[in-house]
Amino acid sequence: MKLTTAGESHGKALVAIIEGLPAHLKLDIDKINEALANRQSGFGRGARQKIERDRVEILTGVRNGETLGSPVTLCIYNKDFANWEDSMSAGECAPAQMESKKLTKVRPGHADLTGMLKYAQEDARNILERASARETAIRVAAGEVYRQYLSALGVEIGGYVCEICGIKDEGRYAFNELANAKTTQTGMLNSEAECLAMDKISQLKKEGDTAGGAVEIRVKGLKSGFGSVMTYATKLDAQLVGALMSIQAIKGVEVGAGFEVAKKSGREIHDEIFYNETQGFYRETNRAGGIEGGMSNGEEIVLRAAMKPIPTLMKGLQTVEFSTKKNAVAASERSDVCAIFALEVIAESVVAEVIANAVSVRLGGDTMEQVLERYEKLCK
Ligand SMILES: Cc1cc2nc3c(=O)[nH]c(=O)nc-3n(C[C@H](O)[C@H](O)[C@H](O)COP(=O)(O)O)c2cc1C
Repeated sequence: MKLTTAGESHGKALVAIIEGLPAHLKLDIDKINEALANRQSGFGRGARQKIERDRVEILTGVRNGETLGSPVTLCIYNKDFANWEDSMSAGECAPAQMESKKLTKVRPGHADLTGMLKYAQEDARNILERASARETAIRVAAGEVYRQYLSALGVEIGGYVCEICGIKDEGRYAFNELANAKTTQTGMLNSEAECLAMDKISQLKKEGDTAGGAVEIRVKGLKSGFGSVMTYATKLDAQLVGALMSIQAIKGVEVGAGFEVAKKSGREIHDEIFYNETQGFYRETNRAGGIEGGMSNGEEIVLRAAMKPIPTLMKGLQTVEFSTKKNAVAASERSDVCAIFALEVIAESVVAEVIANAVSVRLGGDTMEQVLERYEKLCK
């Protein structure tokens, strides 16, 4: 399967084309829209979320609620385009409007400066419009299609926010508890940690500052053998880490025990293997995070991703004005103070994409019936 996304933050629309989906996958559009609403939620979001009410439109590849096997095109129209048409149209734009939207006080922590130098631009808008995390809306819509494909096989994805600006939720939650994270304000499951985190976000907002955090994403029900030990590019852990790292503002990703492995001995880290008639091969611990040798091993896949604090600060950071080269305070467009709740939703989506691809590579299938039949024949 192949996913291509396109679209600028204040352009007309965001689009995605998914190639390689089998025929007869039933798609629930309400569920895609629910995921899009979740991506726009959470304590600490900025004013943009009040303008947009993201809803997906399916333009191709689906008829009567089912995929046809042809490329599926998803589209989300940007409501804010109405306010930006004069400066963001594909046709000729109004010079005065373009000037008023021009950004040259390049923002540290953004793609602005390096992008302007690389693409020979005088206006950071030509870079930031694509670098913006607005793009993740369409990745979430596509991720929801992949999730529905996986769900048909009994593979589920969940997660929660485990840290906000140093405040940790260190609970060890059962998979079925994770769904509750979507009903909270921060994505944390521990209410004490959530209160502390909300106070911290409010305080940072008052100070013109921002917060980051970390999320845990889990995959349940995936049988063993997805991914490959044979070539490095097809290793499942490499693909998952790469996908999570491709989300804006992600600076670290862990699989299973992650960086803890550096502190412990082999006996403390490796998951011993057992066998009995009912369970077959099994492990009593899962410090490997469900992946050994680049392949799923049948245990839950456990990933964590760390997000840096939002780089646009209302009390702007020190920078240089691009054309005059004089010291300046970085531009501050309306912005989130903390977007960790959204990150959790986005991270689930990119994980769904990688796992669905690994299933498709191994099982192929022109129809969902073929995929299901092949999946059922595999051992755990
Ligand atoms: C869900 C989400 C929302 C974001 N919202 C903002 C925002 O409102 N303002 C901002 O400056 N950065 C925001 N970011 C982060 C920037 O998009 C990101 O840091 C920037 O594009 C540079 O990319 P890099 O951090 O991966 O190097 C957000 C990131 C995510 C994942």
